Amino acid sequence: MAPDQQIYPGRFDGKVLLLTGSASATEGDLMGFGGATAWRFLREGGKAVVITDVQDELGERSAQSMRDAGFNAEFVHHDVTSETDWEAVTSNTLDKHGHLDYLVNIAGIQDTKSIEETSIETWQKVMDVTNNGMFLGVKHGARSMNRSGGGSIVNLASMAARWSSPYGAAYAASRAGMTHFTRGAAIQYASSNIRVNSVLPGWVKSPFTKWIFNDEKLSKYRTDRVPLGRWGEPHEIAAAILFLLSDDASYITGSEMLIDGGVTAGFFPPVGE
Ligand SMILES: NC(=O)c1ccc[n+]([C@@H]2O[C@H](COP(=O)([O-])OP(=O)(O)OC[C@H]3O[C@@H](n4cnc5c(N)ncnc54)[C@H](O)[C@@H]3O)[C@@H](O)[C@H]2O)c1
Repeated sequence: MAPDQQIYPGRFDGKVLLLTGSASATEGDLMGFGGATAWRFLREGGKAVVITDVQDELGERSAQSMRDAGFNAEFVHHDVTSETDWEAVTSNTLDKHGHLDYLVNIAGIQDTKSIEETSIETWQKVMDVTNNGMFLGVKHGARSMNRSGGGSIVNLASMAARWSSPYGAAYAASRAGMTHFTRGAAIQYASSNIRVNSVLPGWVKSPFTKWIFNDEKLSKYRTDRVPLGRWGEPHEIAAAILFLLSDDASYITGSEMLIDGGVTAGFFPPVGE
């Protein structure tokens, strides 16, 4: 069985999962982290998934493909920077399913400029989607989970939280903000039986990075810097997200999990140089 098909039957029996930024979730197409996570969650017994995004057509198609496969899935238009949208999506989820057990904050945008080239508008936009979106998500997600005795939240950061570069000034700072916010949230919600963790992916083939891995030079530059010698796949990020959501991670909160093929483990010079 291919690793992306590996499942633990019944692991998520009866559970409800909400994922932001997860419109790219149609099997057979290039999937995002949300899509890979949602499909495996459903195959492992999940009662329902709510996938949300600002890309409505793509999201509707993805949810329909899950329903066609016999699963309970819906797409909701949801801009993570809007508190009104958060109130609507969490209260609709509770009305429909009675509880919310898991939240994965995935929505994100990128910037590729140096500090000098970054405008204040770009800086604010990146912070708005990544940090404000996560803050609102944890606030409203935890409020909903409180009503059914607890839950688990995963925030999608990046290895850029640990390892910066000359480009993506706002991106790297926002990702470091996510991991630190995650620690505070973990402490605050521990007594409510809500665990909060972050995952830090490296270079993974998804819609987010298509423009890089489709460019031979840009792609090879990165592959050469990965100790495991290849890009990651969305199902490899989904596996970590689902582990952290599940009861297997019952004693893990406030942690950050690197999934980067070893990129940030240390300096990795080519042999002989
Ligand atoms: N793919 C990688 O190599 C990689 C590496 C590290 C971190 N990440 C992070 O993982 C997350 C998921 O990326 P992915 O690889 O699944 O790609 P993706 O492009 O499928 O997911 C990002 C989604 O966020 C949505 N989005 C953007 N602004 C939004 C908003 N205001 N409200 C709601 N949704 C919004 C986009 O429409 C998109 O569907 C991103 O936050 C990204 O920064 C990705």
